[in-house]
Parts: sequence; structure tokens; C-alpha cells
Amino acid sequence: MEVSKMEEGQAQIDIWNYVFGFTSMAVVKCAVDLGIPDVLENPMTLSELSSALGCSPSALYRIMRFLIHRGIFKKTTNDRTDQLESIVYAQTPLSRLLMRNGANSMTDILLLETSPVMLAPWHHLSARALENDTSSFQAANGEELWCYAAKNSAHCKLIDNAMACMARMTVPAILDNHLEIFEGITSLVDVGGGNGTALSILVKSCPWIRGINFDLPHVVSVCQHYDGVEHVGGNMFECVPRADAAFLMRVLHDWNDEECIHILKNCKEVIPTDTGKVIIVEAVIDEEEADKYKHVHLYLDMVMMAHTDTGKERTRKEWEYVLNEAGFHRYTIKHFKSFHSVIEAYP
Ligand SMILES: C[S@@+](CC[C@H](N)C(=O)[O-])C[C@H]1O[C@@H](n2cnc3c(N)ncnc32)[C@H](O)[C@@H]1O
Repeated sequence: MEVSKMEEGQAQIDIWNYVFGFTSMAVVKCAVDLGIPDVLENPMTLSELSSALGCSPSALYRIMRFLIHRGIFKKTTNDRTDQLESIVYAQTPLSRLLMRNGANSMTDILLLETSPVMLAPWHHLSARALENDTSSFQAANGEELWCYAAKNSAHCKLIDNAMACMARMTVPAILDNHLEIFEGITSLVDVGGGNGTALSILVKSCPWIRGINFDLPHVVSVCQHYDGVEHVGGNMFECVPRADAAFLMRVLHDWNDEECIHILKNCKEVIPTDTGKVIIVEAVIDEEEADKYKHVHLYLDMVMMAHTDTGKERTRKEWEYVLNEAGFHRYTIKHFKSFHSVIEAYP
């Protein structure tokens, strides 16, 4: 079919977004490194901002022009006659999410995803597709993600901080919408719970729960103390601590179906057969409908392909398969204001 000149022209414009798409990520990272979101808590002119940051005004002007165009910051004007000094830079809801210590800060996720270790595997994505099962992460970094993290404490900390940052967004949203999930549970094991942030928030809102934060030994050995939370080190492929229910947030998407079934069977062994359940917090891809989180789900699926050996995001049908094979024949899916859903599965 012939492509009109107009369509070709538009395609050429559109493709720039892909060719230079990484620029947005890189410049946002640069803004965070410079501390622009934090310094701009009060609106500032270019000279005020450049002297607060110790930056060259000309470079800063160009960076801010880009970030304003992308909607990260905004500008207003004052009544000064000098053209540059009449611009006043200010925060937007987006830039507030990039403040290092801001409420709901997403900085730690950005710092993880833009780290050289996490960026390098993207260069090996095609190899993974060509030579099925060749891990992009291993090709780039020499070993799989969790072994790499065990040997590189700085990278492990980046991961734990990023996960804690996501937990601070996800867990309160679950509690706000579906507190009933945790009613009647006296002990809860968070399998692959990272540094325990998720459980610390959960037990604060549900003080009737005794929390067990279960993760690899090197992860729990540096966890801070939280009232109502016990840290336990181990390997979820071997066994999981006993509890009324098991909580798995963003863990199963790191693994293939067989590995997920193995982990879930280990959870099934330690929860009561009649009253126990597993609470899974993950994306559920809807391939048919264009729901508003679909692009995030598909981004995450590519992230899993680049960063884990066998992980993937799953559709409802794929979750059902994994759950059934692990012996969980009844399940419900609950949605809340997030790109994640809560799957409650019963033995
Ligand atoms: C993607 S993170 C999720 C962390 C946390 N659940 C959250 O959402 O904030 C996956 C976690 O699984 C842990 N993990 C990986 N392999 C494990 C294993 N064999 N046994 C226990 N935990 C493991 C990692 O250390 C990491 O903390």
C-alpha cells in the first residue's frame, strides 16, 4: 500500500520520540542529581536557581526549557525587564514526586532504573529474543540480578530503596480501599519483603497482625527494626516461615511459571488449609481492553525481560494457570488506585 507524503512526514516526526525517548529519562535524572526539585520548593528566577545549585546559568536555562516543555516544571513571569530574569521557575505535581524527601517521592525508583547496572541489559534485549533464555541482565552484568545484588551491596541498597519507595505508594492505597483483606489475620509472612517497609506500614494500620518479613539473608541482615515485624532470612525456594497468610508483592513477576508454582506451593505448605490464603500484589495485563494502566503493564513486562532471567507480567489467564497448578483453586482479583491489583488465592 502506498504511503502518502503526509503520513510519511508524520511518521518521521513520531519516530523522533523513540530515537530520543531516552533523553527525557536522562534529563529528569540530571534534574534529580542537581537537586532542582528540592531547591525549587519556592519559585525562583534563573539567577536565583543557578546560584542555589552552583550551576552555569546557560546550561541550566536549556535544561529547564526542556523540562518545562515536558511538563516537569512550569514557568511564570514577573515584571522584570531583563528577559531571562523575568522567568520564574516553579514546581508541578510531577516535579514534587522527584523531591528526594518529598511525600510519595519516586526518586529512588528513578535512581535504580537509570543506574548503569540496570541500563546496560537493554543493549542485550535482542540477544534474549534471538537466543531464547539468554538473560539480558546476565549478558550485561555477568550474573543474574539477585546474585549480583548479593555481591554488590550498593546496588542491593538501590533495589531495596526503590522497592520501599513503591511500597510506600502501594500499601496505603491497598489499605484505603481494601482493609478487609487483612481482617482476621493474626500473622502474615511477607515473602520477598525486601527491607520490611511494606510490612511496617501494614502492621501500623492493622496492629492485630504479627509481621514476618522474609527475604534473602543479606537483605534482612541490614533491615532496620520495626515494631511488630520480625525479620527472617532464607530462601523462598526452600521453605517459607509459617503464618496465617502469605503476602507476595512484586515477587512472582520476577520468575517463570514453574518457579512461581514452586514458591506458591511452599507458601501453601505453611498456611492453614481451611482459613489460609496468599495475597499477591501484581499487575494483571488485560490484552483485550485498553485500560488506563496498560502502557505501564507493558513497560513493566519489558523491564522484567531486561532485568530478570525468567520473569514476566501476566494476564488473568496466566495467573489462573499458575495458581491452579500450585493448588489454589479459588481466587478473587481486587483493583485499587494503582497499576497493581490484589489477587487473594485460597488453597
Ligand atoms: C522486586 S523485589 C520486591 C520487594 C517487595 N516485595 C516490594 O514489593 O517492595 C523482590 C524481592 O525478592 C527477594 N528475593 C529474591 N530471591 C529470593 C529468594 N530466593 N528467597 C527470598 N527472597 C528472594 C529479593 O531480595 C527482593 O527483595
